[in-house]
Amino acid sequence: MSERPEKKILDMAHERDKLAAVLSSMAEGVLALDTDGKTFLVNSAACNMFGINRERALNKHVREVFNNDQLDTLVKETLKSGDAHTLETPDLLPGETVFRLHITPIKGSKGSLGVAITARDITELKRLEKIRVEFVANVSHELKTPLASIKGFVETLKDGALEEPDTARRFLSIIERHANRLNNLISDLLSLSKIESGQIPLELKKIRLLPFINKLIGTFDDRIREKEHTITVDIPKGLTYIYADKALLDQALANLLDNAIKYTPPHGKITISASEEDGQIGLAVSDTGIGIPEADLARVFERFYRVDKARSREMGGTGLGLAIVKHIALAHGGTILADSKPGLGSTFTITFPRLHGEA
Ligand SMILES: Nc1ncnc2c1ncn2[C@@H]1O[C@H](COP(=O)(O)OP(=O)(O)O)[C@@H](O)[C@H]1O
Ligand SMILES: [Mg+2]
Repeated sequence: MSERPEKKILDMAHERDKLAAVLSSMAEGVLALDTDGKTFLVNSAACNMFGINRERALNKHVREVFNNDQLDTLVKETLKSGDAHTLETPDLLPGETVFRLHITPIKGSKGSLGVAITARDITELKRLEKIRVEFVANVSHELKTPLASIKGFVETLKDGALEEPDTARRFLSIIERHANRLNNLISDLLSLSKIESGQIPLELKKIRLLPFINKLIGTFDDRIREKEHTITVDIPKGLTYIYADKALLDQALANLLDNAIKYTPPHGKITISASEEDGQIGLAVSDTGIGIPEADLARVFERFYRVDKARSREMGGTGLGLAIVKHIALAHGGTILADSKPGLGSTFTITFPRLHGEA
């Protein structure tokens, strides 16, 4: 029983439409080349990715479409051997875009039909990978430095400094300081990974703003007095309560206040203020301190980013404080904003939606 030719043609047309629909809905760029290495199919994603005009790209050698030696060689190689290849390259477009290309043979029932090139933009993936690698390198370095000092001072003590009580005491204080630094670093790393993982649900609680902030300031009393800063709390009348995760909010504001105290020379003015607008709550900590140069401002929320590394370390900073604040703000569905003028001061504002939780 043979099918009627019209039906066969219709079926084939239908199949082709289905295939075209699938290809055009794919996020990956797809190019198919015949056994001569000439394009017979270019999907929309490929056109968008590479800024290709489909009509102009059809029936061309891959070299004419991309002008890339490596790709050209691999396509020829796949056509010849039938082996698949993968290529990661930033050279297909000007700029920073990195692509991952899979070059695979297309096998029909009667032998090779050519090769398919599928392309994915992996720029973001590469960026994240780089951040991760840098992060591990940074952590290792930050852990190693205090450890090296501790080891050094212990050696010196063993080699005789122990016999000189004054020197020994001084060395022990230094060791203690480095041990504290290690401790702070590890606590900050743990907090950050806990908040960032998003696995711990927020415990939204009704918080009475004024006592909450006053209590926080209380924990910094000694340092504020030592530097003779003036601290002001400014909360509008109608804003008595907010809902937030109390422990996290406390940590965020403590980090901001800690910075304000640290990076403001003696006799500075620090203000903690709250505001409400369009259902958004804003909590701001501002100071009259050294400020942050504009070029650094966008990066201070990155892990380990400090304007002045030596200065931050000297003051016991881990470089993770603002990264933690940012993730606490994000966890509340909010944002964090930094405003600063070098020499005049900085303001950090956490803004988050008015949340509701249990009382
Ligand atoms: N209030 C501020 N005034 C000036 N610079 C600040 C302030 N807050 C943060 N910075 C800058 O941002 C950097 C990152 O802050 P943070 O993540 O808290 O790290 P750390 O305080 O441990 O150095 C600081 O090293 C400092 O350079
Ligand atoms: Mg800090």
